[in-house]
Amino acid sequence: MTDFAEVSNLDILAEARRRRTFAVISHPDAGKSTLTEALLLHARAIGTAGATHGKAGRRGTVSDWMAMEQARGISITSTAIQFEYRDTVINLVDTPGHADFSEDTFRVLSAVDAAVMLVDASKGLEVQTMKLFDVCKQRGLPIITVINKWDRPGLDALALMDEIRERTGLTPTPLTWPVGIAGNFRGVIERSTGDFIHFERTPGGATQAVAKRFSATEAAADEGAAWTDAVDEEGLLTIEGQDHSEARFLGNETTPVLFCAAVLNFGVRELLDTLVDSAPPAEARADAAGRRRPVNSDFSGFVFKVQSGMNSSHRDHVAFVRVCSGLFQRGMVATHGTTGRPFATKYAQQLFGRDGTSTDEAWPGDVVGLVNAASLRVGDSLYAGEPVEFPRLPMFSPEHFRSAHPTDSSKFKQFRKGIEQLDNEGVIQVLHSELRGGGTPVLGAVGPLQFEVVEDRMKNDFGSPIRFETLPFEVARIVDEDGAELLRTERQVEVFERSDGALLALFSTAWRLQALLRAHPSLRVDELADVR
Ligand code: G4P
Repeated sequence: MTDFAEVSNLDILAEARRRRTFAVISHPDAGKSTLTEALLLHARAIGTAGATHGKAGRRGTVSDWMAMEQARGISITSTAIQFEYRDTVINLVDTPGHADFSEDTFRVLSAVDAAVMLVDASKGLEVQTMKLFDVCKQRGLPIITVINKWDRPGLDALALMDEIRERTGLTPTPLTWPVGIAGNFRGVIERSTGDFIHFERTPGGATQAVAKRFSATEAAADEGAAWTDAVDEEGLLTIEGQDHSEARFLGNETTPVLFCAAVLNFGVRELLDTLVDSAPPAEARADAAGRRRPVNSDFSGFVFKVQSGMNSSHRDHVAFVRVCSGLFQRGMVATHGTTGRPFATKYAQQLFGRDGTSTDEAWPGDVVGLVNAASLRVGDSLYAGEPVEFPRLPMFSPEHFRSAHPTDSSKFKQFRKGIEQLDNEGVIQVLHSELRGGGTPVLGAVGPLQFEVVEDRMKNDFGSPIRFETLPFEVARIVDEDGAELLRTERQVEVFERSDGALLALFSTAWRLQALLRAHPSLRVDELADVR
């Protein structure tokens, strides 16, 4: 273990500089799991593709997802994987695939420094890709675009570039350009050198693809029309101002684009090189007041995800912390920002592959899982030395509402504890109303799948099976005390208090909300609340 006393500011700066922390955003089925495996394979972290998680365990249906979430494997692949490539430490933080978990995704995206937007070559930008893209844009995250499945028939490469430009507002600046149309993937032009990188298939794509470099002259002789067509198209990109600029990429004006076939490991090395060469390292993060705490100050970080039941043998409660500054060492005592109490980090684990391996230290950009961290909630800050409060993570406005009831009333204690725990984890929003009796919680979800998670976890993790009653509301808005008072006398609206203290008015329909806004011009409503 690194000796605390011997760690200099320069060491911390150097470690932060060699970190790249990113998430892959994609529509389901674009190939996120396949790409993750391929990245690990290229970094020589695993022997053959498929070793991180078996295909049988892949997310596919709701029930698969539930089973996976309970199985130890998915918790790990869904959180953070760390590997080294070219002396750079790469932290890949996974995002949930399903749109119903967009709030989780938002939190993950608050913990990374860049995003890889994975696009299926035959489908272009899909609904979920666009939603996630909007979140990245809102957070100012630099985005690298990867066009996947180029080995299959798909859209025209230039048309895809137009679609990216039109729908995202970012100028696509390809770093590689495909030789051969979608479905006939020969290789790519490396635009920085003009060389041809020829990809060769290996059986089953189970090992690294063989990539051979040729000069433009050699490529013209070998590839004929496929090469000249690619060169012509590549020339158009330059004319259109679609050349890579590091400053414009980091300033969210452009997105570098790569072409790949993750299943064949084609173009995956190029993505790793782009992450190392162009993605931003871990840098100073702004606190809630906008002050940037230097990466080489004392340890600080914030919780972006809390999860229980990862280890079925003993019910762990793991808080995932993004390290923002300083050196984290297992066993150190940090301060828990929300309570001001000391927090012992004896049980820290950094996660990799199927088995969580215990870690002794972590640097800015890394993700640490703190086990048995029941007091930590999503958004909480931890620090050593000078106090810091990182920005709270916003909660989304829920759109589905159900009251929850224990099916066995003798299990009421477990019921209460379970609901409280799921609330702390941010699985669901918990609302109460005096009118409904304090003991009956109303659960608010952004997507209905969240209820399935609650139902399953209540039964299996907390031993209190529940039943739901669907409530006739479709829209929620944050209101102030005056607004709450005003709405209490109205029909088709009910006011609740959320566990973070926010007052939430639930409206039967968007139309009803509009009608009430017209009837009460002084009524102020808000969609998001970043209090927690
Ligand atoms: P996801 O995590 O984004 O949901 O996607 P996943 O990696 O599970 O990939 C979805 C499907 O797309 C899989 O096929 C996968 O093999 C395929 N795929 C991923 N990358 C590529 C690629 O570069 N080229 C081609 N041709 N296919 C790709 P599946 O039929 O659902 O499963 P499987 O039978 O192949 O396992």
